[in-house]
Amino acid sequence: MTRARILVTTPIPEPGPSLLAAAADVTVLDAPPSYAELAALCASGDYDVVLTQLRDRIDAELLGRAKVRGVSNFAVGYNNIDVAAATERGIVVGNTPGVLTDATADVAMLLILGTARRVVEADRMVREGRFHGWEPELLLGADVSGRTLGLAGFGRIARATARRALGFGMEVLFAPRPPGDRPVEDAELGEFAGRVRKVEWGELVASSDFLSLHVPLAEETHHLVDARVLARMKPSAILINTARGPVVDEAALVEALRAGTIAAAGLDVFEDEPLLAPGLAELPNTVLLPHIGSATVPVRAEMSRLSALNAIAMAAGQTPEHAVNPQAWSEPVRGARSSS
Ligand code: NAP
Ligand code: GLV
Repeated sequence: MTRARILVTTPIPEPGPSLLAAAADVTVLDAPPSYAELAALCASGDYDVVLTQLRDRIDAELLGRAKVRGVSNFAVGYNNIDVAAATERGIVVGNTPGVLTDATADVAMLLILGTARRVVEADRMVREGRFHGWEPELLLGADVSGRTLGLAGFGRIARATARRALGFGMEVLFAPRPPGDRPVEDAELGEFAGRVRKVEWGELVASSDFLSLHVPLAEETHHLVDARVLARMKPSAILINTARGPVVDEAALVEALRAGTIAAAGLDVFEDEPLLAPGLAELPNTVLLPHIGSATVPVRAEMSRLSALNAIAMAAGQTPEHAVNPQAWSEPVRGARSSS
């Protein structure tokens, strides 16, 4: 029986490499591949499964020529992959849900606190020797306790953020599927029943002191926060984005921050990563992080483990534990290449 062949587009931390090596012949690329390189590798017939990163664009064109049976993404989000096209081709897509929920919510809370208390401006002042001692009106910020946090989406990371915010004495509102709506029963709210309040997207936008985004990037959520939405926010409001950059119209955000339409923004993600919209980096009322929501040692190890186990299962022809589109294999697999 031949061993499965797995392509890993970027080196990942342990335990993934050891798990993969025990189960398959593994090729790890030294440097992230270009789109053309990755497309050629996936089309080569040399690999059963590819383990990808968010920067790897797995679109319909690439999938149309691919001879892999699975794509295991090292992330919970999978907007870099055209899942409909993968399903059509009989290619299963895996992701890493759950293990990064608390770490990412920590970063949302960090951005809430960091923007409210002007941490970047304060840090710079100290480092640049401009701190001359305690002053009654030095770097006054906003309170967090008693203020209203609006959560766009109420999935895993939004709930973990709500848990933290309630601990800080915030009032928590949420819109479950913005910009649309859907009913949410108390049973679905679980521990949050009676402690958070569901509102429609328009009300969330208008009444939040902090508006924090927790939806996946999809057609419906692209530019969910645009110039019109920013104009409906309070002038004192702060926008927090740990979801995906294109959920916000970043050029419109720069304008809104310049004009004082809103007070500040805390961003872990950007519309065209790693590039920033012109002017964003110069704005003092921003806290900008390089997409580090899940970046703790234990969490990245868990993501490594899950993505490796997903890849190994796919290579063996088994639906992985975390399959985004298990239906891709519910019919005879069209695009699959046998590994044995
Ligand atoms: P989740 O548990 O699946 O929650 C997603 C939420 O968005 C749910 O409330 C869901 O509503 C809603 N939603 C789903 N599809 C939608 C659509 N098309 N339009 C509007 N709302 C929609 O996901 P999660 O684990 O919390 O992760 C959320 C996102 O965070 C990920 O997709 C990823 O992009 C991002 N993320 C970023 C980092 C980082 O490093 N900054 C780390 C992890 C994740 P329903 O309940 O009705 O389905
Ligand atoms: C990170 O952004 C993820 O989706 O895991």
